[in-house]
Amino acid sequence: MADANGLFVSFEGGEGAGKSTQIRRLAERLRARGHDVLVTREPGGSPGAEAVRHVLLSGAAEVFGTRMEAILFAAARNDHVEEVIRPALARGIIVLCDRFMDSSRVYQGVTGNLEPDYIEALQRVAVNGVIPDCTLILDIPAEVGLERARKRASAVAVPDRFEKEEMQTHEKRREAFLDIAAREPGRCHVIDAQRSEDEIAGEIAGIVDQRLGPSANIATETPEAAQ
Ligand code: TYD
Repeated sequence: MADANGLFVSFEGGEGAGKSTQIRRLAERLRARGHDVLVTREPGGSPGAEAVRHVLLSGAAEVFGTRMEAILFAAARNDHVEEVIRPALARGIIVLCDRFMDSSRVYQGVTGNLEPDYIEALQRVAVNGVIPDCTLILDIPAEVGLERARKRASAVAVPDRFEKEEMQTHEKRREAFLDIAAREPGRCHVIDAQRSEDEIAGEIAGIVDQRLGPSANIATETPEAAQ
C-alpha cells in the first residue's frame, strides 16, 4: 500500500498488449502535471533483482523447475520492493511498475501449475505488505498480442523463456488475469488493449487521476483548489 502521498500502479497483461508504451505515456502525463514518477519493471528494478532477471529470462533456471523459478521471481520481487518501491512510496513518489505479483500468480501459478497456496505464500513474503493501489490489466486476445509482439521483435533476438510458449498457454494467461480482476475489482481495472493508443492512454489517465483525487494536477493547482 502507498505510504504518505505515493501511489503504486502496476501494469499487467500478455505479449503485445502495449504496456511499455502506455507506461511511458502515463509517466510523461503525470510528470507534466508536477508529479514525481518512478518507472520500474519486473523481474528487475533493483541491482539484486536485475541479476536474478537474467537467470530467469535466459532460461538458465528452467531445468530446475517451476518451483525454483517461482522462488527466484519472489526473491527478485522482495529485493525490488524493499530497495526501491517502498522507499519511493514513502517519499510520495508515484511508482509505475511493468508487471508485479499478478504475473507470478498467472505465469508461475496458473500456467506453471503451482498450487495457489504455494504462490500466495511466496507473494506474501515477496511483497511484504506493499500491494499496488491500482493494477491496470491490458487485455488483448492472445493471437492479436502475439502477432503484434512478433512484428515488433522481427529484427530483435529470440523470445525469452516465457514468450516462447504455445498460443493456448497465452490464452490461458489472459483468462487468468481476467479472473484476478474479477476477484479484486477494487484494485484491478481491465483495459481493452485492442483500441488505439490514444484511447487506451485516455482511459488509463482517467483511472489514475481518480486514484490521485484532488492532487491529480499539482502543476496547475491554484492555492484555493489546494485547500
Ligand atoms: P519482459 O521482457 O520484461 O517482458 P514483457 O514485455 O512481457 O513484460 O519479460 C518478463 C517475462 O517474465 C514475461 O514473459 C513474463 C515473465 N514473468 C513471470 O513469468 N513471472 C513474474 O512474476 C514476472 C514479473 C514476469
